[in-house]
Amino acid sequence: MCGIFGAVAREGDVSGALLEGLRRLEYRGYDSAGLAVVTTRGDLEVRRAEGRLAALAARLRESSFGGSASVGIGHTRWATHGAPVERNAHPHRDCGGELVVVHNGIIENYLDLRRDLAARGHRFASETDTEVLAHLVEENLKAGAGGPADAGALARAVHVSLAGVRGAYALVVLSRSHPHTLVAARADVPLCLGLARDATYCASDVPAFLDRTREVIFLHNGEVAEITAGGYALRRLEGERVERAPTRIDWDAAAVERGGYPHFMLKEIHEQPDVLAAAAFDRLDEARGDVRFEDPLFDDDERWRKVSRIDLVACGSALHAGFVGRFYFERLARLPAQADFASEYRYRAPLPADGALFLAISQSGETADTLGAAREAARRGLPVAAIVNAVGSTLWREAHGVVGTHAGPEVGVAATKTFLAQLVALYLLAIRAGRARGALTVEQGRSRIHDLRALRAHLGALLEGQTRAAIARIAEREKDAKGFLFLGRGLQYPIALEGALKLKEISYLHAEGYPAGEMKHGPIALVEKALPVVALATSSPLLEKTFTNMQEVRARGGKLIAICSRGEAAASEVADEVLEVPAVPEDLAPLVNVIPLQLLAYEIARLRGCDIDMPRNLAKSVTVE
Ligand code: BG6
Repeated sequence: MCGIFGAVAREGDVSGALLEGLRRLEYRGYDSAGLAVVTTRGDLEVRRAEGRLAALAARLRESSFGGSASVGIGHTRWATHGAPVERNAHPHRDCGGELVVVHNGIIENYLDLRRDLAARGHRFASETDTEVLAHLVEENLKAGAGGPADAGALARAVHVSLAGVRGAYALVVLSRSHPHTLVAARADVPLCLGLARDATYCASDVPAFLDRTREVIFLHNGEVAEITAGGYALRRLEGERVERAPTRIDWDAAAVERGGYPHFMLKEIHEQPDVLAAAAFDRLDEARGDVRFEDPLFDDDERWRKVSRIDLVACGSALHAGFVGRFYFERLARLPAQADFASEYRYRAPLPADGALFLAISQSGETADTLGAAREAARRGLPVAAIVNAVGSTLWREAHGVVGTHAGPEVGVAATKTFLAQLVALYLLAIRAGRARGALTVEQGRSRIHDLRALRAHLGALLEGQTRAAIARIAEREKDAKGFLFLGRGLQYPIALEGALKLKEISYLHAEGYPAGEMKHGPIALVEKALPVVALATSSPLLEKTFTNMQEVRARGGKLIAICSRGEAAASEVADEVLEVPAVPEDLAPLVNVIPLQLLAYEIARLRGCDIDMPRNLAKSVTVE
């Protein structure tokens, strides 16, 4: 996720507003940042810097723009394609340095576009997908053909360029030869306009300009805005005009950085349908029933066929994802897999097996225990692969092959959307391994891909439905419980662990996740009314067994909350409370079932007045042993 911002003013200099706007968007990404303006002397000037926004501000102090500028664009980057170094920082230029683009999202067909543009003589300066947009607009601006007749030349060039682009984007274009105009476009990634008396702004999110105007136009998917100081023209990508009344935003600035949510964690829980799309959808190859990764290491069928075992190693929530991933590799690729705590693995001196692949999972890519385990594995001669969210992090750089999770920055200390993104990455890798090893046919691969695409709507329905209200009622009743027991079998056992961890992390209540079948060997002694038991009882071949375990709890006076698949009527006979979730294929149930548990932890923590985004004693990434 990145932050983009643009401003066109009637007069005066916009560079200060741009920098301030980017600062308000920095929560969206902070690998690198950049600004571009067209000065009153008619020069297009760009300043970019690696790292936090402060580095860009320092760069601007060292080398200020050569004059006042009333139009400009800016960008804070959360890298997805290309390391977070200056050459990949936005804004990106065309060949002649006549125009620049800032972009948030993923251009799925950028490799094809880049190849075609290079064949027509375009020269590229970065590894990003974004840069193809600058060259496309350059080409269509020069050609002058097509686009809405009532639009200006720059807007027409953008309309024509985007007709051939597939993917998700929010983008803004600035051209030296059109110094009083910006052109912005949106497809699946947020973008809005701020309408002030003396200027018009466009940004990824409202905080960027909320101190200057509260009148906002939210672009819808497939719309293009032609922006001038005096206002804007909104059109469908196909050309017809769109009229939309501005929305007045009454949030305070801090609340708006959380998108109107009271906590980043709740915002990130609700981002999960989009995170699923960002983590998966540009890697799916329906035709071949397969998955394609940016890193060639994973596309090598021969290597997959030689893998004898996968060692999944991580910490915290990332390890719970690894426990699910173990099932995925065994079920989809018939590949033996084991999952272990990084802090244990690195000192257990695991017996190296020929053909073993080490797979680290880490949101931050900086967790000391996970880095230590990866280095120990490499020392023992194992190839080291990694699933990482933070591009350019230590693990990202040290691993022999990386799968980025593209979840964007996660501000809440307790992992939510990045956990879901890790599950997606593991599912994709297992499909890839299964297809490479012949354990999955084309048809089976296509079916898995279809299930994954269909999942986004299920996650959205779950988050927009009545689940949260039902969970809030449970939270109200149980907020002072003695603790919680979470039970699950098979793929649901790691989710029981994750549900317990979430509750511990942010509400400080004791909680334990346990295999449902194992609960009778000990933890059942804990069962009493004051200790609610949450059972993961969604559709699965093990459901009957889980029901039996639920009966065992009920028989001892326990209080049972069951997470069940919609329409699973039997659950209501064995549970005090049933929370229904969409029925999905068993292998994808972990991605659905974790959501009510995240919300339960959130609601209880909220009622207990805990610091949800920054819980006591925790850190977003523990870089010490
Ligand atoms: C903990 C975080 O400190 O580290 C957890 O609070 C996280 O949310 C764990 O799962 C591992 O972190 P990472 O960055 O390696 O996934």
